[in-house]
Amino acid sequence: ELEMPAFIATKVSQYSCQRKTTLDNYNKKFTDAFEVMAENYEFKENEIFCLEFLRAASLLKSLPFSVTRMKDIQGLPCMGDQVRDIIEEIIEEGESSRVKEVLNDERYKAFKQFTSVFGVGVKTSEKWYRMGLRTVEEVKADKTLKLSKMQKAGFLYYEDLVSCVSKAEADAVSLIVKNTVCSFLPDALVTITGGFRRGKNIGHDIDFLITNPGPREDDELLHKVIDLWKKQGLLLYCDIIESTFVKEQLPSRKVDAMDHFQKCFAILKLYQPRVDNSTCNTSKKLGMAEVKDWKAIRVDLVITPFEQYAYALLGWTGSRQFGRDLRRYAAHERKMILDNHALYDRRKRIFLKSGSEEEIFAHLGLDYVQPWERNA
Ligand code: CTP
Ligand code: MN
Ligand code: MN
Ligand code: MN
Repeated sequence: ELEMPAFIATKVSQYSCQRKTTLDNYNKKFTDAFEVMAENYEFKENEIFCLEFLRAASLLKSLPFSVTRMKDIQGLPCMGDQVRDIIEEIIEEGESSRVKEVLNDERYKAFKQFTSVFGVGVKTSEKWYRMGLRTVEEVKADKTLKLSKMQKAGFLYYEDLVSCVSKAEADAVSLIVKNTVCSFLPDALVTITGGFRRGKNIGHDIDFLITNPGPREDDELLHKVIDLWKKQGLLLYCDIIESTFVKEQLPSRKVDAMDHFQKCFAILKLYQPRVDNSTCNTSKKLGMAEVKDWKAIRVDLVITPFEQYAYALLGWTGSRQFGRDLRRYAAHERKMILDNHALYDRRKRIFLKSGSEEEIFAHLGLDYVQPWERNA
């Protein structure tokens, strides 16, 4: 942990893509508070305030020291009045009354529960809240509600899905994905992305990028993989989205736009051989309910053309805030448009090709940031 004065000499950028943010967070008590505030504003669809708190959280995560006095944040970007008030409260009282208020707020608590269900977003939560529903149990019990196929799966596997995915589970699923993909396309490249690529040891899902380096493209690959898992009884849920990519189309300027890759949001059944303890054997002998020997795991599979692979990797590695800042930096500092498919230089009116993440950072005039330093 660095001392404050040694650090202050270097100017901190407002963009997280110009900072290094590892998983060592010296300011967790502040960033947790900001994330609650941001989430509450997200539930209220106040994007400006939501982003203000997310940016502040992200900035404090990148500091190599713990903030203990207001002086410590002097001269730092992203520290607006709302943010400073909360920092001050936490420094003085050990906690923030505004954050406590949110945590006790009926609407926040209900939305927090609803959005923890796979397939449920702010819009659906709003609807349920207006109907007077407050908990996941109440939603489950209401048989008049029309649930989407995704939400039905979300409730069916709720307990498994809210319990986080471990690194060991990610490795086990990774083997399954690689083996299945390579049984159809031996040269295919399968890469784990998302939080696990950033070095996290837990996640809410496991993200994979799949590409074929050869000249051969196989539009059917994803369908073949899914069909095999269905046949093997490993697929609990899947929603395949076909590619909507149009060549020559300018990258999307929206900060949180969905990309156009063929992809699949799935729930896989991961078998977990249990330790053979006597209770299990007894219950089997007695014909009692069998012990569940699997866990439902959320898996995202994304198929990319090889020439877009570096862009897809950068986008899907995240963090979400790091990606937002990369695109904001490209637009505002370089007059370029970046998305998960390409980088477009508006001054030169050309697409900039990249075969690696390093090349994308170089095109943007940015120092390279390692995946584990992107936990913004
Ligand atoms: N992403 C994306 N397009 C989507 C969905 C996700 O570009 N349609 C990006 C997100 O911006 C994020 C990364 O892919 O940076 C991984 O998304 P997600 O799995 O939601 O988040 P993680 O960082 O992996 O965190 P978690 O452990 O919660 O899964
Ligand atoms: Mn993820
Ligand atoms: Mn997530
Ligand atoms: Mn994901």
